[in-house]
Amino acid sequence: MKVLITGSNGLLGQKLVALLSKNRISFTAASLGENRNPECPEEHYVSMDITNSRAVDETLTRHEFTHILHTAAMTHVDACEMNPEECYAINHWATKNLFDRAVKNNLHFTFLSTDFVFDGEQGNYSEGDVPNPLSVYGKSKWLAEQELLNASYTNWAIARTIIVYGEGYKINKSNIISWLMEELPKGNPVSLLTDHYRAPTWAEDLAEGCFQIINRNKTGIFHLSGPETLSIYEIGLRVANFLNVDKELIHPILSTTLNQKAPRPSKTGFNLQKAKSTLGFIPHSIEATLNSLNRG
Ligand SMILES: NC(=O)c1ccc[n+]([C@@H]2O[C@H](COP(=O)([O-])OP(=O)(O)OC[C@H]3O[C@@H](n4cnc5c(N)ncnc54)[C@H](OP(=O)(O)O)[C@@H]3O)[C@@H](O)[C@H]2O)c1
Repeated sequence: MKVLITGSNGLLGQKLVALLSKNRISFTAASLGENRNPECPEEHYVSMDITNSRAVDETLTRHEFTHILHTAAMTHVDACEMNPEECYAINHWATKNLFDRAVKNNLHFTFLSTDFVFDGEQGNYSEGDVPNPLSVYGKSKWLAEQELLNASYTNWAIARTIIVYGEGYKINKSNIISWLMEELPKGNPVSLLTDHYRAPTWAEDLAEGCFQIINRNKTGIFHLSGPETLSIYEIGLRVANFLNVDKELIHPILSTTLNQKAPRPSKTGFNLQKAKSTLGFIPHSIEATLNSLNRG
């Protein structure tokens, strides 16, 4: 087995590098910028813009990969809304290009997607539920998913996930739980939504789910998230309770009071039955993971 990991500087990418190293699986890690992951040896790293098909071809011809774990993406939801062309180029077209190369070389292809392919009317989504994305980010991921779903080639998997949290080296983007772990111990008040529900996903659990997909050569759609769907406000209360800080620091607010550029689904969360039975996916509770995070 030899794996190409795209987005290796990202939070999930870093966890995948660690997991494949631990399991002594050969890999090449690729991201846009310089290698920012000290756990990724330079000889295993390539700086590659996934929108540059020549650079992608070069990497694929230099190594005999068996699997691609495609995590690279434009992940800032509001930035995607404001720059739709860039978002579609990275999330849709570059994914199609990578998938086409996987088909040509007969590689197993895993694509990381999102709960934002759903409109949030129903919640507790199963793999067979019909997407209806609200935002440019969600649409870009759904368009990429359809390239796989509509192909005659079936050696692929789609791993959808929900707000991913954890610690990484020089990560571009914060996440709600790491942010709460920073702010609450300092006594800083936070305002959190009572009308948006999510199942926060520990990055280590997500990496393990992705690893099981490739290790077991599974195909099809998989929903990989944390075990509990909570409002963002409830997530804050759970972190405050763990830290034993004053819960009055957490102010309940409604999404209508925020001026976010991109519309977001109100209620997501996943039915994890398929991931449990097919991959042995048993994600940790929020409390079980908080000791692994830095405190402010
Ligand atoms: N984080 C979440 O809450 C969440 C929720 C649902 C789904 N997902 C999906 O899960 C996957 C992993 O998320 P994450 O949080 O680990 O992402 P992340 O931390 O934002 O990292 C994304 C990575 O993509 C790379 N990248 C961006 N544009 C690129 C390009 N043109 N060419 C090559 N690489 C490029 C970046 O590389 P550089 O750092 O080198 O610039 C970065 O390392 C993504 O596909 C995301 O859509 C994430």
